[in-house]
Amino acid sequence: MTAKKIYIRSFGCQMNEYDSNRIVDLMTGGCGYEKTATPEDADLIVFNTCSIRDKAQQKVYSELGRIRHLKEENPGLRIAVGGCVASQEGRAIIERAPFVDVVFGPQTLHRLPSLLDQCAHCRRSQVDVSFPGIAKFDYLPRPHVDGAAAFVSIMEGCSKFCTYCVVPYTRGQELSRPVSDVIREIKELADQGVCEITLLGQNVNAYRGTLPDGEEIDFAMLLELISALDGIERIRFMTSHPSEFTPRLIDAFRRLPKLVSHVHLPVQSGSNRILELMKRGYTAERFEEIVRGLRQARPGICITSDFIVGFPGETEEDFEQTMEMVERVGFDASFSFVYSPRPGTPAASMKDDTPQSVKLERLQRLQKANDARAAAISEAMVGTRQRVLVTGMSRKGGGMLAARTDNNRVVNFKGNLDLLGRMVEVLVTEVRVHTLAGELAGKPAGA
Ligand code: 5AD
Ligand code: SF4
Repeated sequence: MTAKKIYIRSFGCQMNEYDSNRIVDLMTGGCGYEKTATPEDADLIVFNTCSIRDKAQQKVYSELGRIRHLKEENPGLRIAVGGCVASQEGRAIIERAPFVDVVFGPQTLHRLPSLLDQCAHCRRSQVDVSFPGIAKFDYLPRPHVDGAAAFVSIMEGCSKFCTYCVVPYTRGQELSRPVSDVIREIKELADQGVCEITLLGQNVNAYRGTLPDGEEIDFAMLLELISALDGIERIRFMTSHPSEFTPRLIDAFRRLPKLVSHVHLPVQSGSNRILELMKRGYTAERFEEIVRGLRQARPGICITSDFIVGFPGETEEDFEQTMEMVERVGFDASFSFVYSPRPGTPAASMKDDTPQSVKLERLQRLQKANDARAAAISEAMVGTRQRVLVTGMSRKGGGMLAARTDNNRVVNFKGNLDLLGRMVEVLVTEVRVHTLAGELAGKPAGA
């Protein structure tokens, strides 16, 4: 019997990317599916949607419109919509697109197989966008590993309720996985040859857990436990929140060499007035104090960030304060977005009289400043030795390998295939358009 085929399309952020991989693992693991890259030959099409910005709902409905004919041609085809748009829209998706079979949320993705069964059994579309805690982790197969790096989700949801953001509504409140589960999963990954892990969570540093002796631990202490595991050589995490960036977490960068010299720390704005309207829970001064602390603890650490421009009521002066902070901090490659009103959030009903053209012009100025700084950081890396994880062959071919630096840059260099999945040292020799070029400077022990 030939396997049924699943086609999955992921919209949006890294959390969604991770969830999509788990959905594929789930369906290919116990449910007999295999992955396909084209919707035309799929038996199951899954859209894993994101609603953080843009006209997400419309985009999903128009994408659904484009695959509708496939269902007409093949009535056996199943179509499922998951993620944050599904969570927000719920049954409305079935009402607008009755050919959709299953609607599931970020917290019910483990129920996809049973929802599909119920749909086949009752011949009716199924909707489950509830928040059953973090039960999904108990049902998902062990994480799928790609090479030497893996993602590990350690907490879900967000309870911060920034006034512009839908996440607390679509993904539910902050919930941490038990420490023992996290450690077991990472040990299993290390046994499979994984040496770099990225700890994921909407607010990863809001992590709270309990040790077997009842002691409560925070994110910094979890990092310490993970750092002690054999085989794990490099630890990343994202996304962290400034208001939970404790002195102990800053100190972790002094004490734990396995932590990469990179932190993604969204600031959103450099104006205290706007930060307060956003309900971010910190001031520009406090943010810069964290950055200073990090740079003391780990000289040369790269800080990347997210910015929102054109928040309701943002004046030229507010924006100038963001630009001044950008100059002072010197962020590495960062993301900036024009504010996008999200239905149901407090900011969506705030007065917003800045013309879109002004917002776009601000966005360009900010991006230009951040890009220039990122380019300067790349230039400054020439002549330095970097510890990198060899992730694969270079796209350019020619026997070149590709590796990733702490601050997420790809370095191409000549080396043997036996270095794949290993940490090595390279000397950076040149900046190319999107990558760096280098030479092998040190092999791992035993290679
Ligand atoms: N409009 C624009 N950007 C947003 N983000 C979150 N919500 C919005 C919104 N309504 C951005 C923030 C966040 C990143 C993941 O997306 O910068 O850090
Ligand atoms: Fe959204 Fe704010 Fe939570 Fe980040 S911290 S997910 S921006 S509500």
